[in-house]
Amino acid sequence: MAMKMDYDSKGKVLTEKVELVPEGTGLVEGKVALITGATLGIGLAMATVFAQHRAKVVITGIEEEIGQANAAFLNECGCEVTYVNANAFNRDEIDALFDIIKEKYGRIDILINSAGYNIPAHFMECTESQFRQLVGIHGLAHVYTLQNAIPMMQAQGGGVVLEFGSKSSDRPGDYDPFYCLAKAGAKLMSKSLNMEFGPDNIRINLICPGPTITGMTQDNDGNIVPAFAPGGPVLKQTSLRKIAMPKDIADAALIICSDYARYIGGLTYNVDGGIVI
Ligand SMILES: NC(=O)c1ccc[n+]([C@@H]2O[C@H](COP(=O)([O-])OP(=O)(O)OC[C@H]3O[C@@H](n4cnc5c(N)ncnc54)[C@H](O)[C@@H]3O)[C@@H](O)[C@H]2O)c1
Repeated sequence: MAMKMDYDSKGKVLTEKVELVPEGTGLVEGKVALITGATLGIGLAMATVFAQHRAKVVITGIEEEIGQANAAFLNECGCEVTYVNANAFNRDEIDALFDIIKEKYGRIDILINSAGYNIPAHFMECTESQFRQLVGIHGLAHVYTLQNAIPMMQAQGGGVVLEFGSKSSDRPGDYDPFYCLAKAGAKLMSKSLNMEFGPDNIRINLICPGPTITGMTQDNDGNIVPAFAPGGPVLKQTSLRKIAMPKDIADAALIICSDYARYIGGLTYNVDGGIVI
């Protein structure tokens, strides 16, 4: 079966179409994968690609209607995808999410912490609330999922974690001091965790996307913001002279989380068209 899917949600319309081929090569066949922040954007593209490769995928987010609709669509295509509405900031909701995973599957093989956003602002105008939101979503929120997933992985003999950084883990953009703080911290935290839990056969890596066409790089009408548009300054930063589509990031994530990368832990993958080189 081959079907096409448009990512089209509340004005965040993406132009990408993804071929759904449930009879794909099965790179993550049978693995239980939790992908946070997968109602839209890169998370949704990863859910699609992992499900195509026959993982049992659990996705979360805060846009319930969209998440349910996307999960239903993927299931109609022969994939196995469950949507659970869970705010990454809410420890109780994250604990409840893991109760659902334990009851349904009894294990978790892959955790991908991709929920996130940026709030660009000039430093002198940055607020404490913005600080808490950015360091919270890219830091504390990961602690909640990790502290649930790691004991399960230890008990079952191993697992894979993919943390989400950004090219801002290494190279600042315009007016994103708190985003840089959070994303640079995520980079070293993933390495630290890999050292601690590698002996338990849990490998933890970090993926750092470059500019990618999602809600983060579009305005509320779904138009690409000028800095990321063709001819804009961001495009010129990339060696490949390309802005990524979500699937460009998702395909790399699939390889990192598959057994083909079984001897790789504590690494940073800059999937950014050659910005951070
Ligand atoms: N798009 C880019 O250019 C780019 C570049 C580098 C890194 N990233 C990173 O990639 C990740 C995904 O971003 P994206 O571009 O796909 O964004 P997006 O706006 O398309 O999607 C964000 C997702 O996060 C979820 N989310 C937001 N707040 C949440 C919360 N409190 N609880 C649970 N879920 C929440 C949303 O439901 C949504 O599914 C983020 O960590 C982001 O920082 C994106």
